[in-house]
Amino acid sequence: MGLFKKTFFIVFYIIFFILMTTFDCNSTEVINTPDLNDIEYPDDEAPTIAEIYLGKLLYFDKRLSGNGKTSCATCHNPDHGFGDGLKASLGSKGNPLNRHTPHLYNLAWSSILFWDGRASSLEQQVLMPISNPDEMNLSEEKMLNLVSVTPLYKEKFEQVYSVKTIDATLISKALAAFVRSIISKNSPFDRYLAGDVYALSPEAINGIKLFEGKAKCAECHDGPNLTDDSFHSLGIAVKDKGRGIIIKESAMSYRFKTPGLRNVSLTGPYMHDGSLPDLEAVIQFYNDGGGIGPNKDSLIKPLNLEEFEVRDLIAFLSALTDPVIIERPQLLELYQSKSKGKKKESLYATEISQRVP
Ligand code: HEC
Ligand code: HEC
Repeated sequence: MGLFKKTFFIVFYIIFFILMTTFDCNSTEVINTPDLNDIEYPDDEAPTIAEIYLGKLLYFDKRLSGNGKTSCATCHNPDHGFGDGLKASLGSKGNPLNRHTPHLYNLAWSSILFWDGRASSLEQQVLMPISNPDEMNLSEEKMLNLVSVTPLYKEKFEQVYSVKTIDATLISKALAAFVRSIISKNSPFDRYLAGDVYALSPEAINGIKLFEGKAKCAECHDGPNLTDDSFHSLGIAVKDKGRGIIIKESAMSYRFKTPGLRNVSLTGPYMHDGSLPDLEAVIQFYNDGGGIGPNKDSLIKPLNLEEFEVRDLIAFLSALTDPVIIERPQLLELYQSKSKGKKKESLYATEISQRVP
């Protein structure tokens, strides 16, 4: 009997201990600092500097578009929080897009891409805007042709992947490696978590409390990148069915991906339709109980925040800022080709002169 009791208590304590540690993780780390060790790289291998640089060349290459003037950076501009500051970006044909351009911070931790989550890896996602007629509008065939005849690409692809023939899969690998390297994790908020008590103002510290408590933001914006990687309706959309287009269930209609909030003060305007111009408008929107559209999440209700609480929340959101400085590649090298070198050089010299220091 004694032995039975002993075993019972040992098992009981083990279960108790496991439960305690699980609860502890959930309750103390609602929002935290991104951990580089948690990134799941394809084939479990971090990219080399050379692969990221190759992706960067492709990212800034305006020739990968129907009009020869639209690169990824046109819409996802590093100087505009990897957006372009517009409600709706313009595609290669001058057309306004249906949805607002999202930022690209810390997607290394994400397997839900696009506002409706229709791509599940960066490798799968990055070629879609090139061939999309509304965005860059360049067929895969033309893209491959262009990349393959560019001497610098030939040299770099051989160096990085040891190949003589460039294919679409390798182009997507390189672009994804670059996008995955856009990482922000040393904001004042992170320095505060690491023990620097002076990194945040008292207002921002109160903002954290509100974010995790009264304002209920962390119910959806949690974890290191302040997203639950899920989909909700805030009552904004009335036409665009969002996730409901991909998963054809009425419960999914009008839901959109919860965007990560790293560098959020740099990435306005906000929401899938770019309808809210600044952070004050965003907090006011939540404070008023969200929009009037269908399928609204039950968490989105009037918050009764005082004016100073609205300011404190903004102070906290602004403390998530740690800009990612991208040194633009020397595109001139890319655009030189043996036959038509002269003409192209002058065409792209303007781009070089627009380089930011
Ligand atoms: C003409 C503007 C435009 C261009 C050019 C463009 N994008 Fe986008 N990008 C968008 C828009 C708009 C969305 C959101 C579309 C949606 O959700 O339906 C988006 C979404 C994304 C996403 C998903 C982000 C997230 O949080 O879910 C990634 C990654 C991305 N683009 C990378 C790229 C890359 C890489 C290139 C170049 C090959 C590129 N984009 C070119 C406008 C653009
Ligand atoms: C029910 C889940 C939920 C709650 C609660 C919530 N959010 Fe959101 N948040 C979302 C979703 C989903 C979106 C995108 C919605 C859309 O575009 O239609 C979003 C968008 C945002 C954006 C715009 C980001 C961008 O890049 O466009 C900000 C800023 C934001 N939320 C901050 C907050 C704050 C602050 C609170 C608390 C007051 C909060 N959220 C509460 C789910 C939530």
